[in-house]
Amino acid sequence: MRIINLKKQLGRFSIDIPYLALAKGCIHGFIGENGSGKTTTAKLIANILQPDEGQILYDGLEPRSITMSSQKPYMLHTSVYENLIYPLKIRNIKPDEKAIDAMLQKYDLYEKKKQYARSLSSGEQQKLSLLRTLIFQPEFVIVDETLSNLSAESLELFENLIWEIQKKRCITWVLISHQPHIINELCDTVHFFSNGRLIESGRKEQVFLHSQNPIVKTYVQRQAFGLLKEG
Ligand SMILES: Nc1ncnc2c1ncn2[C@@H]1O[C@H](COP(=O)(O)OP(=O)(O)O)[C@@H](O)[C@H]1O
Ligand SMILES: [Mg+2]
Repeated sequence: MRIINLKKQLGRFSIDIPYLALAKGCIHGFIGENGSGKTTTAKLIANILQPDEGQILYDGLEPRSITMSSQKPYMLHTSVYENLIYPLKIRNIKPDEKAIDAMLQKYDLYEKKKQYARSLSSGEQQKLSLLRTLIFQPEFVIVDETLSNLSAESLELFENLIWEIQKKRCITWVLISHQPHIINELCDTVHFFSNGRLIESGRKEQVFLHSQNPIVKTYVQRQAFGLLKEG
């Protein structure tokens, strides 16, 4: 997928990205401060927002095979199960009940299958939202901060799930996270946003260790300092 001369004005904030390439089959990370335009860019890619100018070239990817798990998951007013199979329903795909039960077991949601989804804890809603995003075997998946609020145990399960999917089908991912260890563990390529602009794109080692951009350098140093404090 390629973005060319993409512009979007939202109030006083603007996105302006002359060029961004998201190579197929890679795990990409979007990083940058709060309010730097990561979510807005992701919504433009996922066709949730329309650009004012410019183009997104999907290079053969079908719009229906792109999906995004939101920062704040939206739960339908129904059960865990109905939420989970919703993407299948709208695509007229028959759910494989056995596989779904096994999935719910694995992610500790089986006991809650019939429970009202909005009564789940926020961590459980995040898990459900991720499973719902992946259930129809999409080709391009955007995960907007959804991994950030999981318990260490659930995060590990999802990291393993991502690796499993990559081994089998090698799809394209965009992971948006303010937590550098998640990006560091999973991503091949990192795209750094600042004030609606893409200020650096490259291999994660290049961006994290060798960036010459003062904004990127400051961010990385501050994150490293945060890790020291946490550790
Ligand atoms: N509909 C909107 N109207 C006005 N401003 C908006 C709208 N949506 C987002 N913004 C602003 O755009 C900026 C970028 O937001 P966002 O893309 O969510 O950043 P990030 O995901 O990097 O934290 C923020 O300052 C936000 O307040
Ligand atoms: Mg965001």
